[in-house]
Amino acid sequence: MAIKRVMVIGAGQMGSGIAQVCARGGYDVVLNDVKQEFAEKGLASITKNIARSVDKGKMTEEEKEGVLSRLTLSTNLEDAKNVDIVIEAAVENMTIKKDIFSKLDSIAPEHTILATNTSSLPITEIAAVTKRPEKVIGMHFMNPVPVMKLVEIIRGLATADEVYQAVEDMSKSLSKVPVEVNDFPGFVSNRVLMPMINEAIYTLYEGVASKEAIDEVMKLGMNHPMGPLTLADFIGLDTCLYIMETLHEGFGDDKYRPCPLLRKYVKAGWLGKKTGRGFYEYS
Ligand code: CAA
Repeated sequence: MAIKRVMVIGAGQMGSGIAQVCARGGYDVVLNDVKQEFAEKGLASITKNIARSVDKGKMTEEEKEGVLSRLTLSTNLEDAKNVDIVIEAAVENMTIKKDIFSKLDSIAPEHTILATNTSSLPITEIAAVTKRPEKVIGMHFMNPVPVMKLVEIIRGLATADEVYQAVEDMSKSLSKVPVEVNDFPGFVSNRVLMPMINEAIYTLYEGVASKEAIDEVMKLGMNHPMGPLTLADFIGLDTCLYIMETLHEGFGDDKYRPCPLLRKYVKAGWLGKKTGRGFYEYS
């Protein structure tokens, strides 16, 4: 299964990062979003990132031009007709993902792999809306995509071995480290990470310590690069809440109940860095 042409759906933070590493890895990439301005914003962020790499001497001007020449923008899902793999990185909403996958299934050629970058939604359920569940797989990149080494590859119930292998090979060709996991709520990454973040929020909610103290304990005591509350702001508090709800519902276990303070912040529109305010304020 040779993968040469890639379509990335969603030009937000994750989608543009994925498009960047794929183009850097030598793949031809179509970056798709529902509006041209969203796709252009994604491309602007890629251009800024790789210009920084040139400034730091980590990439030549020629390599930069090569990366940009391999990227095209699209607002039409019909462009999936010409690709070997689609990596969907749209919003974390099952109804929207099912709609995208069912459309892609009717557009993309038979050999095309349909991957999703979902952070916690069941791959098997997404695959079930297609006639090719054996070619549907989770390809979960971490934020910031150009920096983080991990790709968590999630096998749905019906994912074929050769599809897994093709995605593993592709991840390695992007200089990432693939790790194989099975399809259960939150997979491994968010099943372990999110309850820790949620517990940090409970710790703040119960007045055990200030936000700065909680972050300092985890940074200096556990050697985490960011404290859990800073990390929650970085990921987005709406995403954190959504993942906790997926774990809570998926396992039916109250140990995953989202902290009321997290709900309150999301209701207030304090979603973290992207809105300028979460646990911290950002200018
Ligand atoms: N995009 C591209 N590159 C970035 C970047 C971004 N958003 N942010 C930082 N970088 C690059 C910098 O340019 C720098 O590159 P060089 O080494 O080439 O100079 C490098 O990363 C280090 O950056 P800084 O020196 O500015 O800052 P730092 O050392 O504090 O590192 C960090 C920043 C990599 C984000 C680090 O704080 C970190 O690892 N934080 C934790 C990130 C994490 O846990 N991510 C997972 C989130 S969970 C997730 O993604 C899954 C999910 O489903 C929710």
